[in-house]
Amino acid sequence: MQGAWCDSPAPRGIGFCGDRTACLRPASASKKQGFLYFAAWLRAYPGSSTVSRRNSLYLELTNPLKSMDRITLSQYRRILFFTGAGMSAESGVPTYRGKGGVWKEYDYEEYACQKAFDRNPEKVLRFHELRRQAVLDCLPHEGHRVIAGIPGVKVITQNIDGMHQRAGSEGVIELHGTLWRLRCDRCRTVVEDHGKSYETLKCACGAWLRPDIIWFGDMLDPVVVRKAKRSVEECDLFISIGTSGTVWPAAGFPALAREWGAYCIEINPEPSGGREYHRTIAGNAGAVLPELFIF
Ligand code: OAD
Repeated sequence: MQGAWCDSPAPRGIGFCGDRTACLRPASASKKQGFLYFAAWLRAYPGSSTVSRRNSLYLELTNPLKSMDRITLSQYRRILFFTGAGMSAESGVPTYRGKGGVWKEYDYEEYACQKAFDRNPEKVLRFHELRRQAVLDCLPHEGHRVIAGIPGVKVITQNIDGMHQRAGSEGVIELHGTLWRLRCDRCRTVVEDHGKSYETLKCACGAWLRPDIIWFGDMLDPVVVRKAKRSVEECDLFISIGTSGTVWPAAGFPALAREWGAYCIEINPEPSGGREYHRTIAGNAGAVLPELFIF
């Protein structure tokens, strides 16, 4: 029974007895060991987000089996997360490809290209407004918060949903733009707009405002791409999360990071199998990230 004292002997020091659903601490532990053990227990149960960094260290000391696979962040000076739609999947934001993917349900030629916008701007804007509403109904998950909590970390995302920022990440490089900005291609005005509904669909100059995101056939902003590439080249730990690696130039970033000497990790329930990764973790971002690091 969870929460009861455990009488099973622990295999090592004050490690778990092996039964993760029942074990709280070994019966033979002293008070101090009990505290250490409780810290490890907190860390081991998903949702026990109150665990402190010190407790994580206790887990490292007390649970060597688990710690073997964990990453000691202090070994790296420039950590970079590179995220795709899978990063937001556990928040409830649909991915693009695969089952339930946006491009399975909607034809991008109707909603996500300049031609579609030129044909019927209001229809395209309403589609993106619905996506904004769906995103605002979702919340960042523990994985977003773990990333935001790592000091000095950089984030490059292909996502346009703003989830990293809502979790507290700063300086996020948004390769494909954002749902929360509109621009006028006639007079170059850029408008921030964060509500469920657009404040206005038209620019003061009279032209339609368009979502400031990269659609099919669009060029990426070269300034943003340069900044992203520089970060990739500079990092010493590159962690790719939740991307199918099908859209360029983003798809080339893992290989670039490896080429420049970074240790490369992929987190994805369906790993790409890319040879540029030193390590692949087949799992969901929201479950893996809170377990992965030793601060
Ligand atoms: P995709 O939809 O192509 O791929 C999502 C990836 O996330 C897949 O590899 C899934 O296996 C993985 N995944 C699913 N759930 C996950 C989870 N809980 N944790 C971790 N990974 C998970 O999305 P992207 O690669 O981001 O472009 O797509 C790239 C670009 O294509 C998007 O930015 C978008 C789209 O067209 C624009 O909007 C410009």
